[in-house]
Amino acid sequence: MTPRFLLVGLLLATCSLIVMAFDPSPLQDFCVADRNSKVLVNGFACKDPKMVNADDFLFKGLLGMMVNTTNAVGSNVTNLNVELFPGLNTLGISLARIEYAPWGLNAPHYHPRATEVLTVIEGTLQVGFITTNPNNRFFTKRLQKGDVFIFPKALIHFQQNVGNGYALALSSLSSQNPGVVTIANAVFGSNPDISDDTLAKAFQVDKKVIDEIQSNF
Ligand SMILES: *[C@@H]1O[C@H](CO)[C@@H](O)[C@H](O)[C@H]1NC(C)=O
Ligand SMILES: *[C@@H]1O[C@H](CO)[C@@H](O)[C@H](O)[C@H]1NC(C)=O
Repeated sequence: MTPRFLLVGLLLATCSLIVMAFDPSPLQDFCVADRNSKVLVNGFACKDPKMVNADDFLFKGLLGMMVNTTNAVGSNVTNLNVELFPGLNTLGISLARIEYAPWGLNAPHYHPRATEVLTVIEGTLQVGFITTNPNNRFFTKRLQKGDVFIFPKALIHFQQNVGNGYALALSSLSSQNPGVVTIANAVFGSNPDISDDTLAKAFQVDKKVIDEIQSNF
């Protein structure tokens, strides 16, 4: 191979890596997920397009939905991803609705496959995200109704309702299936547990502190 071919090869390999880091582009107008198909593909197999109708592209009443925010953190997330909304299959996009009780928190978490753009529909939220090592920069803002904030792909972020009223936000996410890793649940509530010796070292505290935190998850 001449150096030029090598260079072209390297460029192509780099491009395909970049492409693979996102939801693949659709190769047809739509591919409504057929949740009953036994075919295993990246995403879901398509429902017969002749059987698709306008209802496959509609989700009714997202804003007025009743959820229960009485839990340890005081928030409730409805992930309107391909699981709940099969019409999103192959389209590289989804939505989340987040409701917060007074002072409720959507605890630190990240989405391995998506950037998120959050819009405050009601209330006041303190939001933030943290960059990767070694800087671990913390970007934070107080958002009012109508404000929009970006959480870059795969970075740890959170939102907290900093008011006595209820708060509501809508998020757009750049994947049909963004995935969620909630830090506290992953670290302290894994199945089976990570050894308290490991976590005591990682967090620089006594094992008893780790045992106590683990017992909460
Ligand atoms: C969110 O609300 C729904 C509907 O009330 C409820 O079924 C679900 O358990 C709630 N989730 C949490 C984490 O509290
Ligand atoms: C909300 O969830 C809590 C905790 O699970 C439960 O005690 C309460 O009855 C639920 N509220 C409603 C309205 O379902």
